[in-house]
Amino acid sequence: MEITLDSPLDMHLHLRDSQMLKLVAPLSAQSFAGAVVMPNLVPPVNSAASLHAYRNRVEEATKGEIFQPYMTLFFQSYTEQELASLRPDIFGIKLYPAGATTNSEGGVKAIHDAEGTMKIMEEMGIPLLVHGESHGFVMDREEEFLHVYRHLATAFPKLTICMEHITTASAVQLLDEFENLCATVTLQHLIITLDDVAGGMLRPHLFCKPIAKRPEDRDALLQAALAAHPKLMFGSDSAPHPIHAKEACGCAAGVFTAPIALPVLADLFERHGALEKLQDFVSGNACRLHHLTPPVKHITLAKKDMTVPDVYEGYGKNVVPMKAGETISWSIRS
Ligand code: NCD
Ligand code: ZN
Repeated sequence: MEITLDSPLDMHLHLRDSQMLKLVAPLSAQSFAGAVVMPNLVPPVNSAASLHAYRNRVEEATKGEIFQPYMTLFFQSYTEQELASLRPDIFGIKLYPAGATTNSEGGVKAIHDAEGTMKIMEEMGIPLLVHGESHGFVMDREEEFLHVYRHLATAFPKLTICMEHITTASAVQLLDEFENLCATVTLQHLIITLDDVAGGMLRPHLFCKPIAKRPEDRDALLQAALAAHPKLMFGSDSAPHPIHAKEACGCAAGVFTAPIALPVLADLFERHGALEKLQDFVSGNACRLHHLTPPVKHITLAKKDMTVPDVYEGYGKNVVPMKAGETISWSIRS
């Protein structure tokens, strides 16, 4: 059995920088025609100079592959003039609540203070991408943030707001309540629950923000993905950290899925009799919602076993993928 995907897109990706970028970027570029590249570097991507320089490094690291990086800026207050000059080069602006996740210390402390910039984004048609978590109890952080989405969706009806990496049934429901809300969902949140992370032995390579939730949340996300819900897009949130940062007493948040994402999705969709919905989930919905015309690229997935490497290594870096050492029943046909 085989399926050929036209221009699959990863709508939420961490490519990092320097040696880690060189190691992981080709792995995304082998699977995807393009990806929305997150700006949470140290220091963050927050100026024309840092954006252009980072895009050049991403292009250098993916040279030889057909791969369109859709660049994002780190949310802070920007003037109309700044955004007008940045507009042609950015896909959107990513808002992190201060301290919510990896490298987000410089994020937004009070949503109210961010609304001036959002108004300008609305007028210019720049999408707002949001890491939607409160600072409350870890299992409730997304749920507690939903009122912020309701407020923003109402206050800025023409602003496209993307709820990034949603993890709850309540967030899926919210998609149908506001015209201007859309969402991404990761691979791991379609598959795992908190039990897989911490219910038995602690599994650091499955630890990410937002944390995986309850079975009913996972099931709601999976049903929406399998139906290719028109407001839902695949965004891996593949977030590589070196082994020493994951297998440590303070484990960094992030699951590395870039090289296995499409084969595992094909397996998941096939097992649920929904393979014909995969194209919309990994490309069609994103193209329609964001008016994208990605480069033409065909990726053929075959029902053929592949053993996931224990570790990806190179350029002095190493990173453990999700499902390391396991055999999965689909692979990318080379
Ligand atoms: C991401 C990272 O490591 O950059 N980590 C994660 O757990 N998802 C940041 C993010 O998207 O929250
Ligand atoms: Zn992310």
